[in-house]
Amino acid sequence: VLYPVLATVAAYLVGSLSFAVIVSRVMGLNDPRTYGSKNPGATNVLRSGSKAAAVATLLLDAIKGWLPVVLVKWYGQPYGLDDGTVALVGLAAFLGHLFPVFFRFVGGKGVATALGVLVGISGVLGLATGATWLIIAFFFRYSSLASLVAAVFAPVYYVFGGGVAWYLDASILMATITMSALLVWRHAENITRLIQGKESKLGKKK
Ligand code: G3P
Repeated sequence: VLYPVLATVAAYLVGSLSFAVIVSRVMGLNDPRTYGSKNPGATNVLRSGSKAAAVATLLLDAIKGWLPVVLVKWYGQPYGLDDGTVALVGLAAFLGHLFPVFFRFVGGKGVATALGVLVGISGVLGLATGATWLIIAFFFRYSSLASLVAAVFAPVYYVFGGGVAWYLDASILMATITMSALLVWRHAENITRLIQGKESKLGKKK
């Protein structure tokens, strides 16, 4: 029990690193929690005007989801860490991003981190989900809508891919469904704005 618990706590701590805030601070930009959607995430950092800061946020927030998952997959076996722990650390990193211990538990919406977790679970799964995000973002220009659609499809892709390309694990399936459900919940305000036609488009400052 010790190693799975340690791994899960470590993943939560890594997930708690809110890179939108950290990157902005390092690059001398305004705190993303003070402008735009006020969300500490790559999309909102883009509204600062700095593409570099947005890309760095996206990559680092994704890596913090990916890393715990692949570390458990690659090195976990001697410590008795199986797919159940893969699911736990992925979820823990995601929850760290939503409720970061280092930032008074006020975090982001989990899009980049969830994508990182999915890539860690399976490259194909991550690719399919990422491509879904890109296609919706390209045609509709709403980051939030792209995130919502990708979140709905991710568990579906896991089930289909698992049936064909790899084997299905119930705990990993539960983790992907939980992440998607929480991600949609965190987009409540975005959903309202989308319905009202008030959501800001990608590349716009407001
Ligand atoms: O990364 C979250 C994205 O889906 C929406 O972000 O800042 O437009 O609420 P934002």
